[in-house]
Amino acid sequence: MLIVHTITDLRQLLQSAHRQEEPIGFVPTMGALHFGHLSLVRACKKQCAITVVSIFVNPTQFNDPDDLRNYPRDLKQDCDLLLASGADIVFAPNEKEMYPQPDTRRFSFGHLEKVMEGKYRPAHFNGVAQVVSRLFEIVQPTYAYFGEKDFQQVAIVRSLAAQMGGYPTIIACPVVREADGLAMSSRNTLLTDVQRSHAPLIAATLVQAQAKTKEMTVDGLRQWVIDTINADAELEVEYAEIVDEQTLQAVGHWFEGVPSRLCVAVYARPVRLIDNIRLQP
Ligand code: PAF
Repeated sequence: MLIVHTITDLRQLLQSAHRQEEPIGFVPTMGALHFGHLSLVRACKKQCAITVVSIFVNPTQFNDPDDLRNYPRDLKQDCDLLLASGADIVFAPNEKEMYPQPDTRRFSFGHLEKVMEGKYRPAHFNGVAQVVSRLFEIVQPTYAYFGEKDFQQVAIVRSLAAQMGGYPTIIACPVVREADGLAMSSRNTLLTDVQRSHAPLIAATLVQAQAKTKEMTVDGLRQWVIDTINADAELEVEYAEIVDEQTLQAVGHWFEGVPSRLCVAVYARPVRLIDNIRLQP
């Protein structure tokens, strides 16, 4: 596994793969890797000749300076995990390399950026689009892998790839969970022991919600999710939405056989956790 920090070095490493049109797979990350990220690496390795993983904590997508400051960072441990997972190249640029000038580009994703994360984290998706589009231009991958824990991010990145001419192909990989159901997240390490012991209620509530589409209206179920999680003293729902999986438009009624997505953001203060699950009425 090779670790590079500059665009020039990365391009040089990928030159022959590009020339020979080998499938290059790309897993963008902000480090603090866990098994969720490693599942993306595994999926990538199955499909691609070369697996490139980027590690860059992108400042432009943080709307809370404390969140950026506290974001866990451990390049050595990340590289050890990636080596064991069989990644071929790690690209770990610094801020100057990624943004020699401030990135002032404004992207537009219509409704996709106005709801849920977009509503509560203004400018977040513009920052994601800035860094992901730049990484796509640098790596020029055939496939790029994203986790469905960030369900809305997958929709945004698909739209971004479409706006960039249809490349790369975006592959969405399922949420990976701890044994007690908590969705794996780099932010889980920031939870206190008490918060960590309460956090599995989030996933447990989503799983229970799956069985309630027959007996509750969409609004009734949404409210039930909010009330159930808020009943826990350590947790506070920021939003719970039931949306169409493609358009992210709020669903008004159940339609038999048509899946939708229940998405939540929950504070275990100051840590903010997100999760989602498919509902299949
Ligand atoms: O999902 C993430 O970790 C980040 O949003 C991403 C895609 C690496 C962009 O910084």
